Amino acid sequence: MKVVVTGKGGQLAWELVQLAPQGVELICVSSIELDISNQSLVNEFINKIKPDLVINAAAYTAVDKAEDDIVTAYSVNELGTKYLAQACKSIKARILHVSTDFVFDGSNTTPYATDATPNPINVYGASKLAGDLALQQILPESSVIVRTAWVYSVNGNNFVKSMLRLMREKPRLDIIYDQVGTPTWAKGLAQWLWIIAYKPEVIGIYHWTDAGIASWYDFAIAIQELAIEKGLLKEAIPVSPILTSAYLTPAKRPEYSVMDKSSAETVAGINTIHWRKQLSTMIDELLIGA
Ligand SMILES: NC(=O)c1ccc[n+]([C@@H]2O[C@H](COP(=O)([O-])OP(=O)(O)OC[C@H]3O[C@@H](n4cnc5c(N)ncnc54)[C@H](OP(=O)(O)O)[C@@H]3O)[C@@H](O)[C@H]2O)c1
Repeated sequence: MKVVVTGKGGQLAWELVQLAPQGVELICVSSIELDISNQSLVNEFINKIKPDLVINAAAYTAVDKAEDDIVTAYSVNELGTKYLAQACKSIKARILHVSTDFVFDGSNTTPYATDATPNPINVYGASKLAGDLALQQILPESSVIVRTAWVYSVNGNNFVKSMLRLMREKPRLDIIYDQVGTPTWAKGLAQWLWIIAYKPEVIGIYHWTDAGIASWYDFAIAIQELAIEKGLLKEAIPVSPILTSAYLTPAKRPEYSVMDKSSAETVAGINTIHWRKQLSTMIDELLIGA
């Protein structure tokens, strides 16, 4: 199977490359090798390579910056996805596309079902939803949209690595406790995507995060505890829970973004693993690389 992965250099694409099954002819491309917001480049590239499958892990992911950089956010997240979908349709290739919990407004109090009504509350979420809708319209019969959340990996910038750095640099930290969701190790999502790559009958919308629920405060506490236990941090600093209203950011975030993963577990035949266990394994990987 010939597979194109976009977003090389990003967290998820990196894990997809690490986990690529034997027998896959993998072509992983960066934004420099393929700018997905350029329609003629996308057409030319897809028609030249003729992949069986495209995994779109490329996105404009700067959530706060997107509030001011609306045109770029939409050109990557909406138009980039649309151009890939059109090009794939023309050569009958399949797409696995990655979306976000930020398509939801966060007003739920129970996990979001895959058919829950999206209502993004920031530009990033709206631009990702626009891409999802374009893909569903162009290639409904051979595409998968997987929504994920709070992604981290040993490769790239993320909350886990920021916390570890700040916990070394700062005397204390204040972390938000009134936004809850589920941390997701990108490796687990990459594993799910590779299983689905071999299941062409799977189409439609799925949710994949790790199992469980946490606030950013809970997540930070777990990072500190595990990092001390494993010798990655020397000593604990005080970490205090604060309200979102005490840490205002340009983009609004959903208060609650836990998603129901049951259909994704069923189609792949694997279960999500609790986020704290996944975090522990990721910190072990960081230690090996340290
Ligand atoms: N990170 C999260 O917490 C999170 C949460 C929910 C959903 N997701 C979704 O999960 C997916 C993977 O996220 P991630 O965390 O791996 O993202 P990431 O680390 O920010 O990587 C995104 C990649 O997309 C590339 N990209 C940006 N603009 C591009 C363009 N015009 N053409 C081609 N490539 C372009 C970036 O390349 P450059 O660096 O060269 O710009 C980067 O390598 C995305 O769809 C994201 O929306 C992420």
